[in-house]
Amino acid sequence: MSLAVRFSEYGTTDVLRVVDVPAPVPGPGQVRLVVRAAGVNPFDWKVMQGFMRQMMPLDLPAGLGSDVAGVVDEVGEGVTAFAVGDEVLGASLTPGYAQSALADAGALVAKPAGLSWDVAGTLAGSGGTAWTVIELLKVIQGETLLIHAASGGVGTFAAQLAVARGARVIGTASPDNHERLRALGVTPVAHSEGLADRVRAIAPDGVDAVLDASGHGEIPMSIDLAGGPERVLTLLAFDAADLGIQVHTDGPRGNTVRALHDILALIEEGRLQVPVWRTFPLTEAAAALDLSRTGHVGGKIVLLP
Ligand SMILES: NC(=O)c1ccc[n+]([C@@H]2O[C@H](COP(=O)([O-])OP(=O)(O)OC[C@H]3O[C@@H](n4cnc5c(N)ncnc54)[C@H](OP(=O)(O)O)[C@@H]3O)[C@@H](O)[C@H]2O)c1
Repeated sequence: MSLAVRFSEYGTTDVLRVVDVPAPVPGPGQVRLVVRAAGVNPFDWKVMQGFMRQMMPLDLPAGLGSDVAGVVDEVGEGVTAFAVGDEVLGASLTPGYAQSALADAGALVAKPAGLSWDVAGTLAGSGGTAWTVIELLKVIQGETLLIHAASGGVGTFAAQLAVARGARVIGTASPDNHERLRALGVTPVAHSEGLADRVRAIAPDGVDAVLDASGHGEIPMSIDLAGGPERVLTLLAFDAADLGIQVHTDGPRGNTVRALHDILALIEEGRLQVPVWRTFPLTEAAAALDLSRTGHVGGKIVLLP
């Protein structure tokens, strides 16, 4: 048996229970992990509250989380890439807010020995999504990228991936997060009223591309700043597809392992930092999700089962 976070009805965090469940058994191509860290993402509380139920109907009771790092303790048939005792990170198949989770061996990479567990548990979801959207936006050296919500999980990875490509990044954030963004090579701007003017003051000719990880009505302004919709991509404004922008709905979109290799290489070279803001034990998953639900974060939130 192992502990896992479960909910039997949709709702806010009072629906969560930490219960003892049988450890899952890996099928062909799968491994089982003793979860050492599970990243907390806004997607998780959106699932819990039922906001994703049309796109992703669940059989309740259900669990949460898919960003994991841990130690392999059982391998399924046909798995040759990993063995019992290996330290790995990536995307889980079964809920990651648990002491034990299954993953496809093809969605995992080896955890470098020097990488902390808390950072390892954050890389697949936000990092994988950021990597994928920077590819889709085709950001190249010398370009200017505007990121709405650069201080968030996705924004922090995307900003650093773009800076690593030689782009200039202007990133929106609350003033409390500006110093943190400057340290990552980002030019911060407040996301309050007058944002477009503040961006124009930094980039008088506009920007080359825009990543919207905020969803607070920035699309018309972004199309204007980018001189057209083609290189504006949103993770949230699903009703804006008619405007000709790119609407991205599926996170890392199958790129998890490629993304993780690139991200780990940048971390190793000292060119990408992962600010972990708060860690919580599994039993305090509700507090972790409540913090994420505030929408204002100072870095990644991680559960340490
Ligand atoms: N479609 C997809 O495939 C996909 C994939 C991943 C994530 N997402 C979504 O993308 C969003 C961002 O994810 P995340 O992990 O980066 O979230 P996060 O870590 O919780 O960060 C939230 C961000 O929103 C910013 N923010 C809060 N209020 C704002 C406002 N009024 N105007 C502008 N920005 C504001 C915050 O900035 P300050 O704290 O500095 O104010 C912070 O940067 C979430 O809604 C998530 O569900 C979608």
